[in-house]
Amino acid sequence: MDSIIVTGGKTLSGSIPIAGAKNACLTLMPATLLTEEPLTLTNTPRLSDIRTMSVLLASLGVGITSLEDGQKQILSSRKIDNHVADYEIVRQMRASILVLGPMLAREGHAVVSLPGGCAIGARPVDLHLRGLESLGAELELRDGYVHARAPRGLVGGTFEFPVVSVGATENILMAATLAKGTTVLKNAAREPEIVDLARCLTAMGAQIDGAGTDTITVQGVDRLRGATHPVVIDRIELGTYMLAPAITGGEVELLGGRLDLIGAFATKLCETGISIEQTATGLRVSRPNGRVAAVDVVTAPHPGFPTDLQAQMMALLCTADGTSVLEERIFENRFMHAPELIRMGAGIEVHGGTATVTGVEKLRGAPVMATDLRASVSLILAGLGATGETTVSRVYHLDRGYERVEEKLSACGAEIERVTEDG
Ligand code: EPZ
Repeated sequence: MDSIIVTGGKTLSGSIPIAGAKNACLTLMPATLLTEEPLTLTNTPRLSDIRTMSVLLASLGVGITSLEDGQKQILSSRKIDNHVADYEIVRQMRASILVLGPMLAREGHAVVSLPGGCAIGARPVDLHLRGLESLGAELELRDGYVHARAPRGLVGGTFEFPVVSVGATENILMAATLAKGTTVLKNAAREPEIVDLARCLTAMGAQIDGAGTDTITVQGVDRLRGATHPVVIDRIELGTYMLAPAITGGEVELLGGRLDLIGAFATKLCETGISIEQTATGLRVSRPNGRVAAVDVVTAPHPGFPTDLQAQMMALLCTADGTSVLEERIFENRFMHAPELIRMGAGIEVHGGTATVTGVEKLRGAPVMATDLRASVSLILAGLGATGETTVSRVYHLDRGYERVEEKLSACGAEIERVTEDG
């Protein structure tokens, strides 16, 4: 069980390279199941979630070659010799459900474990299932598994999402590429990871219009070919590290950073008084004045404020000049970082999906516990700005979505180290 110790109070300066996007890679890798030819992904992040997806795909018969220190993956599913995605793997990572659509579309049958519970919310997969049923799939839930069949292949149809779902849009989009006829997805998710998936599928021969808008149209084809695809940068990692100089003061350049991927977040950050500048090589972020200003935040599907940056934004607002109100509208239980920040001296009140943050001059270092991926990194950010030492335990959560945090931050002058407790 690793912990990370942060000694706060260091002003940051330097540059941080932004990796490929976890949430793009987790849907791009299952896309290999749609073709017999190799799919090459470049700019892949080195994360435990990516390794879990590799284990899952390998269990289905996919050959995976990892190159360039893990930043390039060649995936080949010439033959799918196992059609069961096992609970033991799926329970480790909900995104495993994304093998269902592609496997069913190509093979006409698939058995995938239901993901089970999650710390941040109930997170059902009903929309994934209903969407596939709208393409003619026959589904049966039995013994904790989805048994899916489409003996005569999937058939294009129209599906309107009652709520915007990133994963369900990705699953059905992938399935629709091999369905007979036209599929129209209404109220679809518009996240950059979906645009990146559609770009990759198009390079594989799929016919897709409207990715990035709320209406996606897919003209099914008989087969898809292999392709090489660079994974889009990780806008959530980008936003996270933009908050580091905002909290500590100083100036940091995020290499590869793009404003167009994080519009709503960048606008909010500027409202607090932080300066953001697009450079030739990325985004330069600095805090020109003393305390940041308080702002209100409401999370929403893209292009709204991303829920995956809510915890990190709260870490900044803990020392803002004034009171901020954060509303979490995507997940029903995503304030578990608040009690930990309160241990560091923050003034936070949580009522249901609303957190009221009354800014204090400074947080104080303390031992705190990570509860999920984004909560864990928000505690590290808070520790960078606090007096004294903060020890964040259970950082296995962090390793799911951030590669080499200590190296990236210490390269900019942070005092941060990982310690391993002997089991
Ligand atoms: C993706 O999760 C991301 N994960 C999440 O990032 C992110 O928080 C989320 O999208 C929202 O942006 C990956 O891409 C791997 P949803 P996903 O389906 O697809 C409800 C991180 O920190 N819903 O868009 O699971 C659901 O309960 C992770 O990197 C249904 O009701 O999210 C939620 O309230 C955490 N039925 C809302 O929709 C369904 O079938 C949005 O969920 C599906 C979803």
